[in-house]
Amino acid sequence: MDINLIKKAFADHFEGKCGVYASPGRINLIGEHTDYNGGFVFPGAVDCGIMAAILPNGLDKVRAYSIDMDELVEFGLNEEDVPEQGWAKYIFGVCREMAKLGVEVKGFDCAFAGDVPLGAGMSSSAALESTFAYAVNDMFADNKIDKFALAKVGQMTEHHYVGVNCGIMDQFASVFGKKGNLMRLDCRSMEFEYFPFDPQGYKLLLVNSVVKHELVDSPYNKRRESCERVAKAIGVETLRDAEYEDLERVKDVVSEEDYKRAKYVIGEKQRVLDVCDALVKGDYETVGQRMYQTHWGMSKDYEVSCEELDYLATIAEECGVAGARIMGGGFGGCTINLVKEELYDNFVATAKEKFAAKYGHEPKIYDVVISDGARRLE
Ligand code: GLA
Repeated sequence: MDINLIKKAFADHFEGKCGVYASPGRINLIGEHTDYNGGFVFPGAVDCGIMAAILPNGLDKVRAYSIDMDELVEFGLNEEDVPEQGWAKYIFGVCREMAKLGVEVKGFDCAFAGDVPLGAGMSSSAALESTFAYAVNDMFADNKIDKFALAKVGQMTEHHYVGVNCGIMDQFASVFGKKGNLMRLDCRSMEFEYFPFDPQGYKLLLVNSVVKHELVDSPYNKRRESCERVAKAIGVETLRDAEYEDLERVKDVVSEEDYKRAKYVIGEKQRVLDVCDALVKGDYETVGQRMYQTHWGMSKDYEVSCEELDYLATIAEECGVAGARIMGGGFGGCTINLVKEELYDNFVATAKEKFAAKYGHEPKIYDVVISDGARRLE
């Protein structure tokens, strides 16, 4: 993204010398729908995100200009001032959550834009939240809030102002991202480790189906509720503490649907650990096999895939791609693929051709560049 464009948009709408902040979207190698189950995730920040030019305005309101929507919205900072525009709710929510932590949030002007593909499962919303959490902290907090709390501010914004009861993965990745490194986060203890990621002879790429199924009945929150019911039946706080044997014990008292959901989650917990071991050994074929297992678990048991994503995973398998799976919350978006360099060109060409023949448009291809997390640029 061009910093000068952001600064120019700011200058076109407001006055004064702004600061510029940025935060990225994320990928996740493996560990999907495990975060709110106290399990492990394995994300990394990417080289696209949100960039915002911001300056306190001495007023008690925020004036926010979205460059992408070409829309200027004003809102106050009290609980009842929640704006109507979906995108503005994220900024408002961050201000409210920061205020709840004791930060004296004051009014500011801002212009921002993003280049995370929307609906791709790459967490454009977490990028937006962490950009503003970082900036508000920088501008208004006398005692600076730590990075975990900033990630939590984004997550609570989703819970309280957007209505998605998400886990911590996306905001964590967007805040803590480090160039060239994936991060393994234990979402129970919140301990994490950076893993330098440079798979020799392989490439990591995203294939975006450019399909997003709009589902009306909060399927994400429903998945979470299923997991919580099973954990309760087993008598553990989260499914992190459950094994397959525990699940079998309660098979008759949980619904068939809840059983399948939990089966996927318990399997996924182990797959993340397997992938970490395999990475240490440089065994990318095992990494890839676990990715396929995750895909089909998400498709058949967790039921968050869709026809288009299943088709992309199947094409990958047919092309000899080491691993492929749906990435993120589900119901559309991208697959993440680990492919041997010599198979890359053929896979990309085949995926484009076959997908277009079936669905009438080509998928979009992005090479993954693992990048830094939230920061102030100027
Ligand atoms: C969304 C949520 C995350 C996580 C993923 C699935 O991206 O925001 O917290 O649950 O789905 O792994």
